[in-house]
Amino acid sequence: MSLLNRLNEFLANQQIFYVKLHNLHWYVVGSSFFTLHAKFEELYGKAATIVDDVAERILALGENPIASVKKALEVSGIGELSDSKISGQEAVKVLLEDIKFFNDASKEIRSLALETGDEKTADQFNAYAGEYEKLIWMLEAYLEK
Ligand SMILES: [Fe+2]
Repeated sequence: MSLLNRLNEFLANQQIFYVKLHNLHWYVVGSSFFTLHAKFEELYGKAATIVDDVAERILALGENPIASVKKALEVSGIGELSDSKISGQEAVKVLLEDIKFFNDASKEIRSLALETGDEKTADQFNAYAGEYEKLIWMLEAYLEK
């Protein structure tokens, strides 16, 4: 898959992730509610920034970013949640799985960008991977019994 296709796929997944984080923000229940409710809000804020930055990188490279939810759903692979209550442990497990997906995707895009001599895209996704690695550590610490 070309770098631009991978970028659009990443964008589509982030767009769905942005909605999914709202689902978790609203539906998480249990004794960790206040902590997780706030954490999901922080993360959907970050996802919104990533959506905008990736779309604008695609535009800077002369291509058309996915800008419809219908198309994003067709292209994305992370899946959505049902509109129902979810425990803190389950919510963090769902989040961890998606963050691992975005970490792997960021590293793949970084490598692909370097192969094609696109250092700016590589830098952008290297920074994402650094953030995701840190978050993976934190989420795994949260889940440890
Ligand atoms: Fe809220």
